Amino acid sequence: MAMTLELKTLSLQSAAQEKADLLLVLVPQAEAGQQQEPKTQAAENEGAAALRQLLQQAQQSGDFEPAKLGNQLALYSVAQVAARKVLLLGVAQARPAQLCKAIEGVAAQLRQKGVKKAVVLALGDAAQDDAAVQALARALSAAAYCYRHTKPSEPEVSLQKIVLGVASKARAQAAFEQALGVAAGIALARELGNLPANHATPTRLAQTARELAKAKGISVKVHAQRELERLKMGAFLAVAQGSAQPPQLIELHYQGAPKTQPPVVLVGKGVTFDTGGISIKPAAGMDEMKFDMCGAASVLGVFQALARLQPRINVVGLVPATENMPGGKAVKPGDVVTSMSGQTIEVLNTDAEGRLILCDALSYAARFKPSAVIDIATLTGACVIALGGVRSGVFASDDALAQALLQAGEAAQDLGWRMPLDDDYGQGLKSAFADMANVAGREAGAVTAAKFLQKFAGDWPWAHLDIAGTAWKSGNAKGATGRPVGLLMHYLLGLATAQAAEAAPQRKPASPGGQTSKAGKKPAKSPPTSKARTAAKRT
Ligand code: BES
Ligand code: MN
Ligand code: ZN
Repeated sequence: MAMTLELKTLSLQSAAQEKADLLLVLVPQAEAGQQQEPKTQAAENEGAAALRQLLQQAQQSGDFEPAKLGNQLALYSVAQVAARKVLLLGVAQARPAQLCKAIEGVAAQLRQKGVKKAVVLALGDAAQDDAAVQALARALSAAAYCYRHTKPSEPEVSLQKIVLGVASKARAQAAFEQALGVAAGIALARELGNLPANHATPTRLAQTARELAKAKGISVKVHAQRELERLKMGAFLAVAQGSAQPPQLIELHYQGAPKTQPPVVLVGKGVTFDTGGISIKPAAGMDEMKFDMCGAASVLGVFQALARLQPRINVVGLVPATENMPGGKAVKPGDVVTSMSGQTIEVLNTDAEGRLILCDALSYAARFKPSAVIDIATLTGACVIALGGVRSGVFASDDALAQALLQAGEAAQDLGWRMPLDDDYGQGLKSAFADMANVAGREAGAVTAAKFLQKFAGDWPWAHLDIAGTAWKSGNAKGATGRPVGLLMHYLLGLATAQAAEAAPQRKPASPGGQTSKAGKKPAKSPPTSKARTAAKRT
């Protein structure tokens, strides 16, 4: 993407002098009171005075209410202001989640034809801390994203440059740079997720991984069919056998810390299209099953961010990638397959394929003696019903890991919610013909899927993120969200900081974005999406 996001120290005065197509002024409610105060400083130029007066009058008249999140007032050709258009935007208390929402609300104006350069001036509290700066940087990057790969007729966003103006560039710099790295990862995850399944094939995902491996600290291995057979990944291969596309197990390594430090292993579900296989899905909304590789996309997105940010940590990324197709060679209901772990699985429903490819990747993770394993998967329609598109399901065998992931989600505005793993939930997975079945009954489907995975999780802290509801949006805003790259990166960067502090206890490194926020998010009040319908229909 061509858009660059730049951080700059800006006052009202210097912001008024910035030549731009749009001057977006973020006004927190606290700032409203301050604007009433007559300015004592004599050095203020006409531009600053003009903006100050504008803010005052707009609020006094009631035309603009900064306390109302997303409230807007647009003005053209304001005297003494160099920008063509001035847009006042209310950001209420300027909490990170509010800043994100407010920016989302003006994304269309940022992408408007003819807007090449935008200056975003964060007044007072609007950039009060690292969390606010990061929220702004992420939201502004996201606002500039536009899918064009298979729609070249889509007019290119003309936006080339956004200047984010804050009171002190020096103070905000580290948090800003971090957010840009994360934003690059989110953008890659969105783009891969959005690509149609005839483009984003397993082979193409492997190619993307190879490109990522050109960066410092990153290496890649791709295991093809023969190697998967040698590894005895019978569950993964059973899913792949119905597809004409060759399966790929992508293995990425990022080394930012000494080799002796055990890595975090990320495992991403890479079903590039999920027809359901012989247990075929209904036609309505099936196109959305191209998003069934969003777990994989998030792992690749994390590696993109690691490449940019180079934190002191070791990470392994594993992506089993395949299609799930029906056909003469496809796995059938009742078939029994032997997983890499040696445990046998009766495939009662070929549409429960995600767990079949993940279980072998989880077994493979053992060889890295990981400090933690986290799998990320669009695993169950049941999770969409349980949590919708607001929070990802967080399952974890380890309370500390669960807490760390939930906190990272809060900090990154990429929320999760802890789900249970009581052993009783696993009862339904019993099989008369194998060590386990791949499905249980209809009840608590997201939990029984997690219980299945847990049988392969090994002795280290393990977490499973069910992102079926959060990885993409349905309806007229259909598209991948890039979640949970933000959550994962916050977790990993926090870990890097903690490990550095352990190694050198005398120094206390700053941790940008460590703040949490209460995000009082409302669920969308739209009619049931095709995603919800598809999810609800499955029996
Ligand atoms: N990829 C789907 C899960 C899914 C469905 C995500 C709808 C988002 C929206 C997964 O492979 C699947 O088909 N799961 C089945 C499991 C069932 C057969 C136990 C499901 O959720 O219906
Ligand atoms: Mn499926
Ligand atoms: Zn699936």
